[in-house]
Amino acid sequence: MYATMIWEKDTLSILDQTKLPEKTVYITCYNYQRVKEAIAKLEVRGAPAIGAAAAFAMVLGAKEIENYSVFMDELKKIRDDLISARPTAVNLAWACHQLYNCAATCSLDISFDILIARMEDLALKIYNDDIKCNKLIGKYGAEIVPDSATLITHCNAGALATCGWGTALGVIRSAHLAKKIKMVYVDETRPLLQGARLTAYELQKENIPCTLITDNMAAWTIKTKGVNIAITGADRIALNGDAANKIGTYGLALICKAHNIPFYIAAPISTFDFTTATGADIPVEQRKGDEITKIGDKVIAPEGVATFNPSFDVTPNELITGIITEYGIIRAPYIESIKALQEKVKK
Ligand code: MRU
Repeated sequence: MYATMIWEKDTLSILDQTKLPEKTVYITCYNYQRVKEAIAKLEVRGAPAIGAAAAFAMVLGAKEIENYSVFMDELKKIRDDLISARPTAVNLAWACHQLYNCAATCSLDISFDILIARMEDLALKIYNDDIKCNKLIGKYGAEIVPDSATLITHCNAGALATCGWGTALGVIRSAHLAKKIKMVYVDETRPLLQGARLTAYELQKENIPCTLITDNMAAWTIKTKGVNIAITGADRIALNGDAANKIGTYGLALICKAHNIPFYIAAPISTFDFTTATGADIPVEQRKGDEITKIGDKVIAPEGVATFNPSFDVTPNELITGIITEYGIIRAPYIESIKALQEKVKK
């Protein structure tokens, strides 16, 4: 797979996911504002990838600060500006706060260059740790994938949505290596088609058997094609296990419940929001209506029609069979299992 992003000390090159699968183009970001724009436009997308890109953006932003005497004030503005790019994926705020706190804990007498080097090391660690976490998620997740599995997934929680390997697709990749995959049904994921453009692309590139369906085919596919497990990613998981993910995930979880199929979420610790009690407190990003009234550049709806375009929905914990993390799989009762996880990681 192509690298989602490449850090080159003074620039961050971002694989433009809006152009995939037709074109493989990298955007060179020289400043944090361009990274923010890339996040807002979904040129880089997927919760862990957004987090890592923002971490590198914090380094670029820090380098741009000219007045050292107000460094932390300026860095705070950059942090908050980056966080405002997309509200739902908590990995974004998590990474920005980590970088800010790294600078805040540096003693005042170290040089600017050393401070930047420490921030850069941390951003690289966030990037590399994400790949390690995904491999572990893949390992644990592959254990619960049945032999000769027929899976369904939604959106793209793959290498492209992360720093490599993927969360839900990481599980699928690991299960494929263990020769457990018969077929993966891929929801196209309207309105921006991350399933069709990105998940189908990733799976096909690695010869993992996959079949693309439109979102409204999920129930019938599950009923008629012997789907026996669903796995998706998440953008934010509340303390009670409610999980926000790409719009349509909630519907898929309800369909799984109706057909008695296990529905799993795969996500690293950075996707847990230990400050949010329930899904009701998770901010859901609303995006422009033209994502619905158009497919690509083609207008498909009457001009001026009202639209409602929530980018995410929240799946209630009772629909989630388990959450696959780098620490293993946690299950209901989630209030207890997530508290235990929090104790373990002391995030
Ligand atoms: O709007 P997107 O494409 O950023 O939404 C991405 C998702 O919903 C993913 O499933 C989620 O971020 C998990 S990625 C490992």
